[in-house]
Amino acid sequence: MATERVRHFLEFSDLSRAELEHVFARTRIIKDRFKRYQAYQPLTDRTLAMVFEKASTRTRVSFEAGMYQMGGSVIHLTTGDSQLGRAEPIEDTARVISRMVDIVMIRTFEQSKIERFANNSRVPVINGLTNEYHPCQILADIYTFLELRGPIQGRTVAWIGDANNMAYTWVQAAEQLGFALNFAAPPGYGPDPARITRGPHLTLCQDPRQAAAGADLVTTDVWTSMGYEAEGDARRKAFAHWMVDSGVMAAANPNALFMHCLPAHRGEEVSADVIDGPQSAVWDEAENRLHVQKALLEYLLLGFEVQ
Ligand code: CP
Ligand code: NVA
Repeated sequence: MATERVRHFLEFSDLSRAELEHVFARTRIIKDRFKRYQAYQPLTDRTLAMVFEKASTRTRVSFEAGMYQMGGSVIHLTTGDSQLGRAEPIEDTARVISRMVDIVMIRTFEQSKIERFANNSRVPVINGLTNEYHPCQILADIYTFLELRGPIQGRTVAWIGDANNMAYTWVQAAEQLGFALNFAAPPGYGPDPARITRGPHLTLCQDPRQAAAGADLVTTDVWTSMGYEAEGDARRKAFAHWMVDSGVMAAANPNALFMHCLPAHRGEEVSADVIDGPQSAVWDEAENRLHVQKALLEYLLLGFEVQ
């Protein structure tokens, strides 16, 4: 069955700037209602299936709590407890699940796997993290910046670390929303030239302090992402001087925020005084996963016609 008209969120750039602005505006409304214990349940009788092929705390809790809060329900699947672990083709899994639920969230390895699922799905598919992208996290990060510092357009973000799923999603967001990204990775761990477009939105830097200079937001992530554990020893050596510490934060603008998608490793990619210090926004950032994803679910299921 042709599924061209179904909207998915597989990469950050799947939503236009106008759609992203709508999602952020709805996030503010939905969060405000939630804080006032005002019920908002537009997704009654709707079901979200979540498929996890990698571990999760925040993504699972935020999608599951969010769906229930909006009146819907959730089914949680993992590789080990579904036929995916016994090699049922992803295309067949997509055809079946998408006849039974209204929307699907997937956390998996290759982006091609989520694309194959989406190409065979009758319902919207959301990327809950792949090796290549983590778009829901960047929605939360940008919403958090908006909430604490105002629009991100024209501002500068410093990415200090691996060219991983978070990093490539920041690159897309910078181009989509019109801000500057300073990107510093150790030699051998920088972005693949084939996966980035060069332009005013992206500056490749030599070291963390150069990237942080003039930044309004400094952000980093683990040295070794899920699925790359075999490279752990080599990465620990390569990233040894790639920690966001107070010296790096001092190079940024005085009111710069620090963000990290979590889970974090204090003493590796970030020092304890930074992540637990006054510039850190990591707890608001984590909480905002809940609120932005409720707005995303609402948009993918109900479009612009909402109250
Ligand atoms: N940031 C994030 O996606 O966290 P989890 O791995 O806990 O879901
Ligand atoms: N880059 C990390 C993010 C975890 C939320 C990973 O993929 O493991």
